[in-house]
Amino acid sequence: MEALPGISAQEIARARRPLEAAWTLPPAAYVRADIHRLEAERILRRSWAPLARVDQLAAPGDYVAMELAGQPVLVVHGLDGEFRVMANVCRHRAAPVAEGAGRRKLFTCPYHAWSYDTEGRLAAAPLMDGVADFAREDCRLTQFRSEVWQGFVMANLDPQAEPFGPQVEPLARAFEAFDIAGMVVARTLIYDSGWNWKVLVENFMEAYHHLAAHAQTLEPGFHARDSIVFDSDGPWSILHMPAAAVDAERPRLVQGLPEQQAGALFAAAAFPHFMFALHGDGMAWYQVLPLAGDRFTLKIHLCVPRYVLDLEGADHILAELEQVTAAIHAEDIVVNDLVWKGLNAPTTGQGRLAPLERSIWQMNQWWLAKMGA
Ligand code: FES
Ligand SMILES: [Fe+2]
Repeated sequence: MEALPGISAQEIARARRPLEAAWTLPPAAYVRADIHRLEAERILRRSWAPLARVDQLAAPGDYVAMELAGQPVLVVHGLDGEFRVMANVCRHRAAPVAEGAGRRKLFTCPYHAWSYDTEGRLAAAPLMDGVADFAREDCRLTQFRSEVWQGFVMANLDPQAEPFGPQVEPLARAFEAFDIAGMVVARTLIYDSGWNWKVLVENFMEAYHHLAAHAQTLEPGFHARDSIVFDSDGPWSILHMPAAAVDAERPRLVQGLPEQQAGALFAAAAFPHFMFALHGDGMAWYQVLPLAGDRFTLKIHLCVPRYVLDLEGADHILAELEQVTAAIHAEDIVVNDLVWKGLNAPTTGQGRLAPLERSIWQMNQWWLAKMGA
């Protein structure tokens, strides 16, 4: 067992106990800069993260520039129809070749105008004739591992990473009826979040906090005490929040769901920070974009079945979804701010986990294993 900076063997042992006897991760796991550096190396740069929905890059040539664990990347819908994730770093003198999002046939570097096609191959490099051993084929933008899973373009900087799909097969199976792949992003809410990313993931994965943090909003419809965390043998968790009362009359936007699923709320996570909530009216994808150990951008993308966009009154439906999501997240911001304050206090130690926090326990076991603790 390797020690982690600022974390004792006893603290690790407590976090590893069976759930009934387990403690939380120690505050150092969230607040220490050296832990975050190790985490970036051992987890964030080696894990799968969702970068975009295929519907956000619907046409060949569509791209978005972003960062994946500190690496500038381009997510591109190639003219050949394939989705690729590649380094957004010119092979000449390293300038990013594009920013923002848009539609291109060629990416021309703003520095000396080397240009790359949508597959990342160098198409032209002005005034390079006569340069010894210069071959355009050697200058393709670095390609990263990527996979389309349920309409998400997933990527991983680690060339040795296990494929994503097989690791989360139970997630795909559990939510087959929702047809996640057929959903489209209809609205996006953007938040600048001043906590370690794990604070949000933990908050997302348990319904214990409905009791207090969402006492007037979620608790009446989804009682904390009824929430269930599935058994998991992989890098994922599923939280099932059954409806307190099923209103079978209410039409749902996601059609053909079994009654149990139509009224329920589900929170799914693939570790480290791929999270989506599913309900009878669609999906809220919580996209976490870590910037530092104590800061990340959160984009909550509201996704609905495609037909909903063409409904009369779609604007009204989407505005309502947006309003509910923003109100719930406002309540979560309050408690995450509180947790962050406490975690940063000088005398804070580990706490005891509640039985309803099994998903946090599941992620902690995964985190400790990945960190080599
Ligand atoms: S750095 Fe891109 S062309 Fe020179
Ligand atoms: Fe919450």
